[in-house]
Order: sequence, then C-alpha cells, then structure tokens
Amino acid sequence: MDSRIIIFDTTLRDGEQSPGCSMNGDEKIRMAKQLERLRVDVMEAGFPIASTGDFEAVRRIAGTIEQSTVAALCRAVQGDIDRAWEAIGSARRPRIHTFIATSDIHLVHKLRKTRSEVLNDAVRAVAYAKSLCDDVEFSCEDASRSDIGFLAEIVAAAIEAGANVINLPDTVGYAIPREYGQMFKTIRERVQNIDRAILSAHCHNDLGLAVANSLAAVENGARQVECTMNGIGERAGNAALEELVLAIKTRHETLGVHTAIHTEEISRSSKLLTSLTGMMVQRNKAIVGANAFAHEAGIHQDGVLKSAITYEIMTPQSVGIRESTLVLGKHSGRHALRQRCAELGYELEPAELERVYQEFCVIADRKKEVFDDELIAIVEQGDGGFVEEYHLEGLHVSTGTALRPTATVELRRAEERLVDSAIGDGPVDAVYKAMERITGMVGKLTEYTLKSVSLGHDAVGEAFVRVMFDGVQFNGRAVSTDVITGSAKAYLEAMNRACAARKRKEEREQQSVIVPHT
Ligand code: KIV
Ligand code: ZN
Repeated sequence: MDSRIIIFDTTLRDGEQSPGCSMNGDEKIRMAKQLERLRVDVMEAGFPIASTGDFEAVRRIAGTIEQSTVAALCRAVQGDIDRAWEAIGSARRPRIHTFIATSDIHLVHKLRKTRSEVLNDAVRAVAYAKSLCDDVEFSCEDASRSDIGFLAEIVAAAIEAGANVINLPDTVGYAIPREYGQMFKTIRERVQNIDRAILSAHCHNDLGLAVANSLAAVENGARQVECTMNGIGERAGNAALEELVLAIKTRHETLGVHTAIHTEEISRSSKLLTSLTGMMVQRNKAIVGANAFAHEAGIHQDGVLKSAITYEIMTPQSVGIRESTLVLGKHSGRHALRQRCAELGYELEPAELERVYQEFCVIADRKKEVFDDELIAIVEQGDGGFVEEYHLEGLHVSTGTALRPTATVELRRAEERLVDSAIGDGPVDAVYKAMERITGMVGKLTEYTLKSVSLGHDAVGEAFVRVMFDGVQFNGRAVSTDVITGSAKAYLEAMNRACAARKRKEEREQQSVIVPHT
C-alpha cells in the first residue's frame, strides 16, 4: 500500500465557516497562497452555493493556485454541483467534493429520507459530478454514526458511479480511535471495489480526539487526511494540520507513512491565519503555540543544553521557527529592509516595500531594535487591499485613575482634516467614540484582541477588531508599539473596509439602473 498521505486542507471551508474565523476574498487568497507554499496536496476553497462571496472567493482561488488541487464543496444536488463546477472549472487541478448524510439520525431528523433515497441521490450526484470533473470526492456525512452495512453499500455505489476519493467523516467528533480505525478496516474488507478509491479521514475535535482518530484511520488504510491550520473549525475544530503532519514526520518509523508538506512553512502559515482571523492560538498548543518549544523547567533546560535529544522530539527549525534575531534599527534603509524580508521569505513588490518601510519607520522610531517577529507582523498586516477613506493623522488621550478617559482624534479624508473629541468608558472606547463622531459611522464592536508580538516592555502589540457596520461584519488589525494607537488603527481599518464595501455596493447599484440606449 502507498505510504504517501495526501494532506487535504479545509481551513478555507470547514475552518472558515466557524464563528470568529471568517475571512474576506483578499484574505482567503493570501491564505490560499500560503497553503500552496506549505505544499498541501488539496485545498478546499469553500462552499460556492453558500453565498455569492463564497462563490467569488472559490473562483479567485481556482484562478490563482497552480500546484495544489482546488476542491469545492457541494451537497448531493445538481444545482449545488453546477455552482461548484462554475467556481472551480478553470482551476488547473479541480475537484468536486459532494456529500450527503448517511447516519439514520440524520436521515430521520434532518433529511427525512429513506436509505434507498439517499443512496440514489448519492449515485446520481457522483455520476453527474464525474460528467463534469475527473476528480470527484464523495463524503458520507456522520459516517462514524452510520450503520456499517449501509455505509459499505453506499461507498461501493459511489465508487461505481465514479468517485475516486471516499471520505468517512466523524462529523460530530464522537468516535474514539479504536472505533474510527475499525470503520476503515471494515469498509476495506467489505467493499469489493475499494481499491479504485482513496479512503479519507475527516475528524472533528469535540472530544479532543481528532488527530488521534485521523491517525487511527491512517493505520487502517486511509491515505488522505482532512485537516485545518491551527485546528480551526466547527465547534471544537477539526484535526490540526500541524499536529497530524508532525506526528507523521516524528513517528514515521512507527507509522510507516509520510507527507509532502514543507514543514518549515508551518509556523508562518499558523501566524498568518491568526493575523487574518484574529483567532489566537493558546500558548501551550502543540507545534504552533508560543510555548511549544520553550523549555522552562531547570532540569529540562539542563538536559537540552547537554543534548537536545533529551527533551526535544522535534526541532523548532523543522516548523520554521527561527531564533528571534535582532534585525534592524531606525537607521536601516529600504535596501536592508527588503533584504531581511527576503531572508524571512517575503519578496516584496515596490509598493508593498514602501508600505512596510513606512510602518517600520514608525516602530523603529519608538524602539531601538526591531525583531524578526515584529517585522513579520508588519508584513503580514497587509494593506487591506482597499483604498483608505480615512487616515489617522494623530490622537491624544487623557486617562488615569481619577480621570474620565477622553480622546481627541484627527483624521484626514482626501485633503480635509477632521477633528473631534469624546469621553469613553476607557481610553480605547473614547478613541472609538471620537472616530464615530467624525465619520458618522457607528459600529458595534464584536471582538477586540490585543497581543504582544515580541517580548520586553517595548514590544510591538497587534490589535485585532471585528466591527459590525449596518449589519455587516468587518475586520481590522494593526501593529504598533502603542496599544491605543494600534487599537485606533485597527478600528479605522474596519471603518475603511466598510466604506469600501459601501462604495462597491453603490457602484453595482448604479450599474444596474443604467438602461442601454437602443
Ligand atoms: O464534518 C463533515 O462531515 C464535513 C463534510 C461536509 C465533509 O465537513
Ligand atoms: Zn467537517
């Protein structure tokens, strides 16, 4: 049996659809490009029938990605399949991923269909998908709670209809490793045409067993595993890509399998996702948590210094973590900055270099030394991909134990300078209120996080906000040595995104009322 495990990444679909993880089209493209650098074999780009935004993002990813297979999810319904194909048909390596639930629980309570109706739907869907695309994956939703006899029957029929990948998800994270592994074993024993398909595992983490279950599937013949970066996903998340890949790499002698993942890109992928979604990774998270490679206990430090093998089962370098080297200071120019960014893996175009340089100067002016992690945070912040309506010219905040926090903010809109002040519950609240007075845009802050990018009292902080304007959610993020300025810039970015979305909507509306002359 082939010892290569196919890594199917669903960060942009199962991951992105979970609360707190949404990304806009530009952000999805950035993540997709990074996943390609990570060398995932397949990336599931989205669920095109779900919304126009999802459809557009999948279509753009399909047109951008060259090496990885790009998959689109669809229910076992012709309209869904057509929409999925419309989105990914132009990809270099497209895959249609169609699914239907197979457990009696879902059949009775959700689909209200009999087993034979579900079987017919599955066969029709797979055959139709196959008429459009050579690469078809079929998923039996809630497979782990399905009757094994029915599961074997539907798997055989789906392969006969043309499915080349069969996915057996533990949709609700209910299985334990022994059971999940056994399901794969039984399916391989009972389904006669199973050799014509690749078996895939897809595990949710409700009981914290997603990675263990996926490995049990691998030990029982699964040759594709579905996972997400940082383990993001519905409820407790999906199997974490980094954990699966490093388990396979570290224990390859025992497991006897390998992946093609470029593990040195793991840390960067994890950080990019955090910065795009604001979804923080816990410090003690395996592989990508801040403490994952930190040896604090004296006895451990002593051992690691004598020989790393005493306590280190994998190296930080193998996942792309470098020692945070001292880099540049305020006298460093564009050339040195571009060079250091290139060493860190970022080839910056002139416009991007200019943006990074300007941000870098602001930070370097405040602190003597700018570290790699801080530089990466500036680069990852991106330019948002939109023209900013308002620019922060300055702010002044008074706060203290005996003072009502008061902020004065100055914004620039084109050539116009706009100033206003407000009192708030705290200094950040006061700044946001002043901005709202200036712009007339009142938002509902649904998420606010602040984290330190590096160490030390002068460390750079990264602020992330999610704000609702007119019922639509916009993200904003910014890095700064000053937490109030960072918070202000992040909020302003969300405001600017809302302005850009409003403009795009107005343009679309204007176009739709233009009646052509005959
Ligand atoms: O968890 C699940 O069952 C899924 C399928 C749609 C593949 O995400
Ligand atoms: Zn899932």
